[in-house]
Amino acid sequence: MRSSRPSISFLCGKNSSLTDPLSTLLSLLYRNNNRSFMATPITQNPTPPVDSQDNLDDHLCTILEQHQSSSLFSSDLPSPSFSLGSPSRCLDGEWRIERAWAHWKKLGQPKVIVAPMVDNSELPFRMLCRKYGAEAAYTPMLHSRIFSETEKYRTQEFTTCKEDRPLFVQFCANDPDILLEAARRVEPYCDYVDINLGCPQRIARRGNYGAFLMDNLPVIKSLVQKLALNLHVPVSCKIRIFPNLQDTISYAKMLEEAGCSLLAVHGRTRDEKDGKKIRADWNAIKAVKATVRIPVLANGNIRHMDDVHSCLEATGADGVLSAETLLENPAMFSGFRTVEWAEGNDDTKLDAGLDQADLLIEYLKLCERYPVPWRIIRSHVHKLLGEWFRIQPHLREDLNAQSILTFEFLYDMVNRLRESGTRIPLYTKGSDASRISANGIAACSAGV
Ligand SMILES: Cc1cc2nc3c(=O)[nH]c(=O)nc-3n(C[C@H](O)[C@H](O)[C@H](O)COP(=O)(O)O)c2cc1C
Repeated sequence: MRSSRPSISFLCGKNSSLTDPLSTLLSLLYRNNNRSFMATPITQNPTPPVDSQDNLDDHLCTILEQHQSSSLFSSDLPSPSFSLGSPSRCLDGEWRIERAWAHWKKLGQPKVIVAPMVDNSELPFRMLCRKYGAEAAYTPMLHSRIFSETEKYRTQEFTTCKEDRPLFVQFCANDPDILLEAARRVEPYCDYVDINLGCPQRIARRGNYGAFLMDNLPVIKSLVQKLALNLHVPVSCKIRIFPNLQDTISYAKMLEEAGCSLLAVHGRTRDEKDGKKIRADWNAIKAVKATVRIPVLANGNIRHMDDVHSCLEATGADGVLSAETLLENPAMFSGFRTVEWAEGNDDTKLDAGLDQADLLIEYLKLCERYPVPWRIIRSHVHKLLGEWFRIQPHLREDLNAQSILTFEFLYDMVNRLRESGTRIPLYTKGSDASRISANGIAACSAGV
């Protein structure tokens, strides 16, 4: 029995740090400075300046060997979930659509889903969101070439456990063979292999992947076809929209014809990087949904459950992804709302009896169980307690001064916050309150 070894990663490592410059670049990608979604500036230098803080933060929070099976294939994870047959080699378009829907239905048609987030949608965070209503989740984007070549990268950047389903594993790529090699390593442990076609950052431009492949649609087609023809699990794609609606529609059709089984549409263009300032275009998502026949997920403008309902209604999409809001409020899909919502409207609001410090404690406990690099934990602490630190800035400074984090320090920091009398509750909307059960979890998270 391996029940005491709850998570797996690819081959065992011990407190190893990512020294591969490309891996380091990747971990810097999307890193969030303060509240905005922006990449750390990357220079032409192939080895970005990494200070000693970063090196220490790349260490795992717990020794992996205590927690993991030594071999991927001897773990007690379930076998591949796509039991609808072999790769789609011989399937025509009609069959592929039917198969796409059969698979989606078998997964329970998840409606509320954790979006992919580099350094943020890792296993403990996914598990926390799942506890609070998320019905599926994406891994952070993994770099297909580094994943194929580098054992340390696989070990640290992809971990999962049997409760971590349904799961999308996302890769960036521009070479179909390399992508397939990476995808084959994860296909037994996920429900979709996803291709990142939406990353708008400079590093993606330089590496020629993500949203920059929108300039070279034949490459995108070859990536999708390669996976669709050779994998047992279906391939999904996460895209951004083009400035022109007709281009977006043609793009979506092309992806479907190439063998994509599910399409997540982030309703912003490649140049619309600031999600806080620029609203996602739900009309474009609606047009895609009306055009293709595979399941479509909508992404953008989801801050609380009212947005989930409005988005599903407005776009006709089969589910929604949320990213930034979940970082501040991983319980959002259970109906909990942040103070930002409470201050901005006249609905009856109730203190939910749960706050971000409670969620942080739960998250830390999950990290003790499922080890991750400290840099990831540090990032979640800042996002979860951002508002609290504004009231108690010396605690933020104290946190920043720690070159080496420990669980003891973090638990103590939460105690100090509480002892100082600081508390920012999460809220429920009056009419939702009855749906939230005594242990804080919504009886019916999406209710949609
Ligand atoms: C910290 C962070 C990391 C992200 N990393 C990824 C990623 O790895 N892959 C990806 O496709 N999108 C990534 N995104 C984009 C989100 O998945 C999502 O498309 C975007 O934030 C819009 O959704 P939102 O309005 O709910 O935040 C990231 C976003 C954030 C905030």
